[in-house]
Amino acid sequence: MAERCVSGGSAPRLQICFRISCPVAVPGTVSTLLFAFRLVPQLECAGFDSGLSIPARFHYRGQGLSPSCYGSIDNRTGAGVMDLLNKVCIVTGGAKGIGRNIVEAFCKEGARLCIWDLDLKALNALAQTLTDNNSIKDKIITQKVDVTQPHEIRKAIITILQTFGTIHVLVNNVGLYTIDDITKEEENSWNKIIDTNLKSVFLCVKATLPTMIENRYGKIVNISSISGKKESIFASPSYCASKAGIIGLTRCIAAQLAKYNINVNCIAPAITDTDIISILDNSQIANAVKSIPLGRIGKPEDISNAALFLVKDNSNFITGETLNVNGGSFME
Ligand SMILES: NC(=O)c1ccc[n+]([C@@H]2O[C@H](COP(=O)([O-])OP(=O)(O)OC[C@H]3O[C@@H](n4cnc5c(N)ncnc54)[C@H](O)[C@@H]3O)[C@@H](O)[C@H]2O)c1
Repeated sequence: MAERCVSGGSAPRLQICFRISCPVAVPGTVSTLLFAFRLVPQLECAGFDSGLSIPARFHYRGQGLSPSCYGSIDNRTGAGVMDLLNKVCIVTGGAKGIGRNIVEAFCKEGARLCIWDLDLKALNALAQTLTDNNSIKDKIITQKVDVTQPHEIRKAIITILQTFGTIHVLVNNVGLYTIDDITKEEENSWNKIIDTNLKSVFLCVKATLPTMIENRYGKIVNISSISGKKESIFASPSYCASKAGIIGLTRCIAAQLAKYNINVNCIAPAITDTDIISILDNSQIANAVKSIPLGRIGKPEDISNAALFLVKDNSNFITGETLNVNGGSFME
């Protein structure tokens, strides 16, 4: 069965919805259908499942505009196995640490990645690693972007739209971490941390919104911290305030953007094994571990798994939420 529906909006747009029904799971169906859709450049497959009924939605945009695809597929199992296939995803601070792990996880799902970072050397190293894999080299853009600078963000967005034609996912991951307490932190440090950790989220969301609103689709994930939720002696006032601010900002814009089918969620990791914690000494890390019921610090993949969940269709009805990924060190 196939149905055809024309959506509203200013841009020329034709949305084609397919429902393919099979009485039984037929071996090879999925790969055959995927191959067939590769032959039609304007269509991109959002995913298939070889079950009883396979509703699939494709989003076709008219001449001169790039195709974008939404949604997955399996209403019965909620599997959403290929939700990220060809989705255009921006990951800020994506060259190292948690951001890099998110990039790699999204790549494995077939997403198209726009990796933003200040650290050109780390960006180039990551680009080299990723583009060694021929099958994904056309799906990666690395961009040196300072997310505190609106003009750099705007320039990067223009390049993305020229290259991929659209944006589906934004992960606001950039963060700087400082540990000076209130007696030591100076105004310039406060301003730098608030600008980098909090204002950047506002700027990046503003810059991607026109495309997401036009698409009536978007997934935004903001990386906060346990320090935005509870007291912390190992984090500066600006860090804690910026991370608490991200949680409030997430709720506010989730409520405001829900009508455009844009989900906005947050992740609050506890201490995680990346370069950012090199300012802590061994005894501070050992103390942190003691406060974690699961008995270890986080791994970057603990956070990227949560990010994957929040950008895939299984979480479509979750918005404004902050997911604690902290080994049980703070429970609500
Ligand atoms: N690692 C932890 O223990 C931990 C715990 C809780 C929350 N977090 C949060 O997770 C996020 C990722 O942290 P991480 O541990 O991977 O840190 P990281 O230092 O390994 O990575 C951060 C990346 O952001 C980039 N960056 C910094 N400022 C930038 C700017 N102005 N513009 C563009 N890129 C910039 C850096 O170059 C770096 O590649 C941060 O928001 C951090 O606050 C980390």
